[in-house]
Parts: sequence; C-alpha cells; structure tokens
Amino acid sequence: MKIISSELEQIAAIISQYPDSNLKEVAFAGRSNVGKSSFINAFINRKNLARTSSKPGKTRTVNFYKINNSFRLVDLPGYGYAQVSKSEKEKWGVIIETYLSNRENLCEVILIVDIRHAPSKEDVMMYNWLLEYGFSGYVIATKADKISKGQWNKHLKVVRETLGIKDMNLVIPFSSDSKANLETVHNKIEEILSCE
Ligand code: GTP
Ligand code: MG
Repeated sequence: MKIISSELEQIAAIISQYPDSNLKEVAFAGRSNVGKSSFINAFINRKNLARTSSKPGKTRTVNFYKINNSFRLVDLPGYGYAQVSKSEKEKWGVIIETYLSNRENLCEVILIVDIRHAPSKEDVMMYNWLLEYGFSGYVIATKADKISKGQWNKHLKVVRETLGIKDMNLVIPFSSDSKANLETVHNKIEEILSCE
C-alpha cells in the first residue's frame, strides 16, 4: 500500500462526534503505552501525527485518521493503566466500548501487544470480546526492536498461547522504531479493507 495522504480527521468522546460512517475503518486496541499511536505514525510514515508519550494515558479519545482520502485508522485510548482513578478508567472504558459496538463501517479491530511480555488479563478479556463480536483476531506484537530477532519466535509463542491462538498468521511481529514488517502490515490492512 502506498500512503499518499494522512490527516487527523476527528477527535471524539461521544457518538455524535464521530465522522460520517462512509469510509471503512480499522481500529487499534491495547494497553496504555503499548504503542498504538506510534503504530499509526509508523504505518503512515509520519513522526508525530498521532500524539505519543512515554507516559501511559496519552490518548483519551477516539481519534480518526483519514488515509489516502479512502479509509480511516482509528486510535483508541489504552486500558490497564494502574495510575488512573476508577472513575477515569470507567470513562475510558465507556469510550472504547461505545466505539467498538456502534460502528457499522468498522472492518477489523487489531489488538496491539508488547512482544516482550505475555498479554495481560485485560488483553485476554479484550481479545475474547473481539472474537465474540466477530472480528478475525489479528494481533500486532510491537516493540520487536527491543529484543533480538532470534528471540521473536519464543515470544510470539507466549503471545499466541496466552491469547489461545492456533493460527500462526494472526500474530505479526512489528516495530514502530525500526519499521520491521511494515510492508506485511500494509498488505494485511489492504486485505482487511476489502471487507464488505
Ligand atoms: P496510550 O495513548 O497511553 O494508550 O499509549 P499508546 O499505546 O498510544 O502508546 P504510544 O504510541 O504513545 O507509545 C508509548 C511509548 O512507547 C512511547 O515512548 C513510544 O516511543 C514507545 N514505543 C512505541 N512503539 C515502539 C516501538 O516499536 N519500539 C520502541 N522501542 N518504542 C516504542
Ligand atoms: Mg495513544
């Protein structure tokens, strides 16, 4: 896939702020600080269009990025950040759930995990929920630059086993820093966008 243009189209906290459902969307879910916003930047080859931070809890709204004027990537708030209050957590939970369960033009939700660590209890919950909702269960195991390539398979096995994944092809190792497997991910999203 060639990226010709990318823009932040809309930031939304409630449904009435969502853009028109005329374009297909692919969304990214995962723990706070796992690298969802960085993934979007790497995907579109922009350094800072999606705001990132070394501190968890940077993205707090549903952010819609319009790519090539033809589809959207959707950045979601992260979950599992211990340092936020219960009421704040509930608010983000509602924001994530409202988007995921009310979007007819949403082709896939991809779970992003950290390749170095076994997925958390919340990752497992989110993943099972995505499968129940009929999504395919793609996982991007990011921050792969933080371990040597020789270690990837061992870590990918832990990711698959923790999430109960049998199909090896569902989990893609990736790095937003080194851009490892960027082409694989471009091809995968192109394939996903042929959804009905
Ligand atoms: P929230 O918005 O809080 O949910 O976080 P997020 O999932 O959007 O994470 P973000 O993209 O802001 O990245 C968090 C931190 O991880 C930042 O310091 C990034 O630079 C770093 N990071 C993200 N992806 C990678 C990667 O592939 N490799 C390395 N080395 N660092 C990464
Ligand atoms: Mg973010």
